[in-house]
Amino acid sequence: MRFIIILCLLQVLTACKKTLITPVLPLLSFYQPVDFPEPVYPLAQNPVTREKFELGRLLFYSPVLSLDNTISCATCHAQTHLFADHNVAVSSGVGGLTGTRNAPPVFNMAWQPHFMWDGGVNHLEMFSIAPITNPVEMNETMLNVINKLNASDYWKKQFKAAFGTDQITDQQLFRALTQYMLMIVSDGSHYDKVKRGQASFTADQQAGYNLFLQKCASCHKEPLFTDYSFRNNGLDEISADDGRYLITQLESDKGRFKVPTLRNVLLTYPYMHDGRFFTIDQVLEHYSSGVKSHTNLDPSLQNGIPLTADEKKYLKRFLETLNDYELMSKMELSEP
Ligand code: HEC
Ligand code: HEC
Repeated sequence: MRFIIILCLLQVLTACKKTLITPVLPLLSFYQPVDFPEPVYPLAQNPVTREKFELGRLLFYSPVLSLDNTISCATCHAQTHLFADHNVAVSSGVGGLTGTRNAPPVFNMAWQPHFMWDGGVNHLEMFSIAPITNPVEMNETMLNVINKLNASDYWKKQFKAAFGTDQITDQQLFRALTQYMLMIVSDGSHYDKVKRGQASFTADQQAGYNLFLQKCASCHKEPLFTDYSFRNNGLDEISADDGRYLITQLESDKGRFKVPTLRNVLLTYPYMHDGRFFTIDQVLEHYSSGVKSHTNLDPSLQNGIPLTADEKKYLKRFLETLNDYELMSKMELSEP
């Protein structure tokens, strides 16, 4: 008996000693909400681990990826705005240069089959090269980024902890950033709680939900609030930005853009690919009375979506239920 106790005590002591030498971080795995479809991202190729996720988080918040070490991914994708840009139609990158498109929120990326307003990138792991090398975003070269990281003892230590190697590569950088993005899952809104039977809609919210199902859900499809198709919703008769056409060169794709998610939509203004609308009221007014004819206008919008003042109010009450305040304040995703 005494022998067993001593043995146990010894085990406890050595366990303590081990944790003192190498602190073991709590385990982490990809989070799949029960009512979401299977992710499209091939998780088996880049299984989420705590160490790689934490490295991705450090990188997402670090300006080291930009030419003059001033801009991080989080500069344009802020957690307080559900990982969209703050209050600006188009974002400023290195040297204050601006692009032409509104920065979309980065969450539920594991379910998204293509990225950017025109779907120009179709693998999340290949995505980060775009902002890093874009002259109006981080304006850096991959070679330079990798050299900067390899020259730093701090980053070498971080990459070693995640990947176990001494040489930092592009692929490790992309995979770590991807893991951080994969873990940004938005499923904590009031709407989600209603769907899970943990809360209920008010009468106004329910009326808005019914209207939404009739008038909006054909494109903004539940549960992700997009069907990921490319459509023209009648913003202009002639679009300044050719959208999907830039990728496919098909006339029928001119002026079409990816249907954006409406999760957290009230928190991610301004709206549309160029950030032209600052309020949700302007968006509803657009659908109600502002839809312009365009060769590629979606057939379902030929007559717009006429809405009465009450209908607009109810729709807004419903859209508010898509705010995910849990994600907005999730410590695990915040600046390390
Ligand atoms: C200067 C601002 C800026 C910076 C910095 C920036 N982004 Fe973005 N991001 C944008 C804009 C603008 C778009 C939309 C681009 C488009 O559609 O052409 C975008 C799009 C995205 C998307 C696609 C989302 C979707 O729904 O299609 C992802 C993912 C993303 N960024 C991740 C990142 C990562 C990771 C970094 C850092 C390596 C980063 N961004 C740095 C502005 C920025
Ligand atoms: C025919 C498909 C279609 C229908 C129906 C539709 N939308 Fe859209 N919606 C789109 C497309 C496409 C965009 C992006 C257009 C762009 O930026 O060029 C968009 C953009 C939006 C945006 C901007 C989101 C952002 O992050 O920038 C909001 C808000 C929105 N729609 C709400 C609604 C509401 C509310 C309804 C119903 C009254 C509705 N939509 C009906 C296709 C549709």
